[in-house]
Amino acid sequence: MKNKEELIDKYFKPNFKSAIQRKDKVEYLDYQANLAYTNLGKNLHYLIFTYGCIGNSADSETIKGILDSANFQETKNEHEADIFILNTCAIREGAEDRVWGELGRLKKYLIFKPQIIFILAGCMSQEENTIKKVLAKYNHVDIILGTHNLYKILDYLHVVLTSHEKVIEVFSYEGAVFAHLPKKRLNNFKVFVEIMFGCDEFCTYCIVPYTRGKERSRKKEDILEEITRLIENGAMEVNLLGQNVNSYGKDLYENYSFGDLLQDIARLHIPRIRFMTSHPHDLDLKTILAIKNHPQVMPHFHLPVQSGSNHILQKMNRHYTKEEYIDLVTTLRQYVPKISITTDIIVGFAGEQEADFLETIDLVKKVGFDGAYTFMYSVREGTPAAKFSEQVDNKIKNQRLQVLMAMTNEGSLSKNLSMVGHYYPVLVESISNKGNLLCGYTPDYRLVNFAGSDQLIGKIVQVKIIKAKTWFLLGELDEQP
Ligand code: SAH
Ligand code: SF4
Ligand code: F3S
Repeated sequence: MKNKEELIDKYFKPNFKSAIQRKDKVEYLDYQANLAYTNLGKNLHYLIFTYGCIGNSADSETIKGILDSANFQETKNEHEADIFILNTCAIREGAEDRVWGELGRLKKYLIFKPQIIFILAGCMSQEENTIKKVLAKYNHVDIILGTHNLYKILDYLHVVLTSHEKVIEVFSYEGAVFAHLPKKRLNNFKVFVEIMFGCDEFCTYCIVPYTRGKERSRKKEDILEEITRLIENGAMEVNLLGQNVNSYGKDLYENYSFGDLLQDIARLHIPRIRFMTSHPHDLDLKTILAIKNHPQVMPHFHLPVQSGSNHILQKMNRHYTKEEYIDLVTTLRQYVPKISITTDIIVGFAGEQEADFLETIDLVKKVGFDGAYTFMYSVREGTPAAKFSEQVDNKIKNQRLQVLMAMTNEGSLSKNLSMVGHYYPVLVESISNKGNLLCGYTPDYRLVNFAGSDQLIGKIVQVKIIKAKTWFLLGELDEQP
């Protein structure tokens, strides 16, 4: 075998320096299926593992759509799989460790089926060191492709199936924005629509601006056309996706922003509209008014704050202060009194002293979040914060996390308790794994489990809340017509 460095140089590999040089022009293209591949997947089964955020889930829907268009078949059974695809996440070290573990575990299937193809896709592929590590330790991976070129997956599979060569192709520059990519969705009633790709915020701890590239909005006409089609096909709820939906349109239009898009989608008469995620410093009054004026826009706002310390917020490059964040929440609640506000918080960021952490605790008390995802800061190689001095000891990070979690869980439980005895419309999604109960979400995004027929899946029903837990509610179907 060739020297590893030589092998790496032979391929298109990612590079963070190039990733930062945002290329000016974004190409807008229409996806065209290659008819030569119509039968490429005949008699071949694929199994896809999806990690990370909802953006990755949306990408997996595209990968499945493209594979199905070439006659590959999805399976959930590892023994049946001819192709394993790992759609990876790089947000924290723990996310990456899960993928490495899974790659090691799945290798055993090669003993019985040496022709199995392993594909590594997603955000980890965009990292410089991943390819080195794969070639050194996980040489059974056949294809590495990044977030910008997943539309080429059939070309790569064609190479591997016909010539048994490895394919490693990862673009540092963002690829084109495609209209009409095929998608295989989980169901037709709760749908996810990407309104933009990438992120230009460069929070100093975060890998996403490097792995997902420059911010690119989709054209409003394409988004509205896609949603119109989805509604015709039975969509009851659309989830608009982007790393920072509040800056939608800035790269494309002078006078059309996220608030305008929300209004235009509300006019399409879909019962429910949700969106995520939002950055506080881009949130404007137009967006708040769109939530207030259109009952289809659900009263839930996920507004990551990350820290309550102004010193840490500045080091994180977040562009707002604790006081500004609290003002924003107050404004949101003034306009939409019933709005539920959830957040993300990182503890143990470089330089976080006890006093900074206490500021976060104070913020959590003052805001009274309806729920929060809390994380220990994880150093990401290549991001500015990886070079910051004063990294916090893991033990302290963990202690702070426990304190914070106890508080945010209490917030979530008290919100849930306040709902007991009240009725809410719930979009029924599926049978829960908690003993054959139906499950779905209230408008303000609280998970409810309740008994009922699976005929109700995909419908909006009235449910009376009878019991509250920290993470979910128990309810009773209101049988009244
Ligand atoms: N674009 C979204 C989601 C980003 S990832 C947003 O800005 O809200 C989801 C969350 O992961 C972030 O909000 C942040 O709280 C957390 N996160 C990102 N990078 C991290 C890191 N290096 N260590 C720990 N948590 C991190
Ligand atoms: Fe990461 Fe910040 Fe972009 Fe969110 S807004 S994806 S945290 S850089
Ligand atoms: Fe993870 Fe990439 Fe999403 S790093 S959180 S899968 S954008």
